[in-house]
Amino acid sequence: MTTTYVDLRSDTVTRPTPAMRRAMAEAEVGDDYYGEDPTVRLLEEETAAVLGKEAALFVPSGCMGNEIAIAVQTDRGDAILLDRLSHVAKVEAEAVTGILGRRFLFCDGDRGRLSPTDVAAGCGNGSEAGRPRLVEVENTHNWGSGSVYPLEQLRAVAAAAKERRVPVHLDGARLWNASAATGVPAADYAVNGDSVMVCYSKGLGAPAGSAIAGSKAFVREARRVRKVFGGAMRQAGILAAGGLHGLRHHRARLAEDHARARRLAEAVASTPGLSLDPAAIETNILIAEVVRRPDRFEDLIAAVKADGVLLYPFGGPARFRCVTHLDVDDAALERAVAAIRRAATRVLAG
Ligand SMILES: Cc1ncc(COP(=O)(O)O)c(C=O)c1O
Repeated sequence: MTTTYVDLRSDTVTRPTPAMRRAMAEAEVGDDYYGEDPTVRLLEEETAAVLGKEAALFVPSGCMGNEIAIAVQTDRGDAILLDRLSHVAKVEAEAVTGILGRRFLFCDGDRGRLSPTDVAAGCGNGSEAGRPRLVEVENTHNWGSGSVYPLEQLRAVAAAAKERRVPVHLDGARLWNASAATGVPAADYAVNGDSVMVCYSKGLGAPAGSAIAGSKAFVREARRVRKVFGGAMRQAGILAAGGLHGLRHHRARLAEDHARARRLAEAVASTPGLSLDPAAIETNILIAEVVRRPDRFEDLIAAVKADGVLLYPFGGPARFRCVTHLDVDDAALERAVAAIRRAATRVLAG
């Protein structure tokens, strides 16, 4: 018998809904390398419109989107100013430094969010040699427990970069969550990035795919670099249809994921042995710490799993992440709350 887990490891684990699968099965397709896939084109146009950009490019993954944007906007040896805990720094360093040969200049943001002072300090006293060639920001911030940039702060960061003639790349893997949480249109965030990466495969529930958006010139060059990276696809409309369905139908419902994350955060915070500040939970990600018997962290994760719930060790020793998403309804959430409480009582006692 297979166990049906409540999978809180990530919002990437969702399976396409029946309506999304239908849209994918019925998608009109062509060879996208020749620009002949109408569904990919439609997705790119709708994404660019939602983000208020001239153009967008469908890419296989968020990592590849970030890396293409970086490759287009910087040269080998260039420095990128970014938060130490950004996804680009934590997960994509091997590609960005090893393959692309860029360097990182780290800031320590407030739960991942940079300030204009970070940009000013990172750009130094104006010496051309050490100046970063790109500022990279992430909204919402994964390691920051789904933290959202206040719009004014993001604007001030972008203004500080512009003043110093440094372009900005926005990693918006979960930009949709930021908009759902604040009511700020995605375009109002996106205008602060010269390039923006968004994912369809996270909160929107598509099986794969991301996009990068920017000026027509940026996207023209990004298209070339995508091919160099091996990321040009052929009848990709089947995948794009999943993204398009998510973009059209699953953005508004992200507020439900956020409400469930708050409910889970309150439950975790009131569980003896676990620590988390529920007030810090702004979107669909929460990171909790085992404060009593941290040496039993792995036993706790295993006990919760044995009870049918998957958590993700993440964010430091004795910490785990929970992410709410399309496949976690109220009943699943209550199963998770009960499993975490039971396991904490049993494993962390004494
Ligand atoms: C903030 C952020 N950026 C980029 C990515 C990379 O996306 P992908 O897994 O599609 O490569 C992720 C993945 O979780 C992410 O959280």
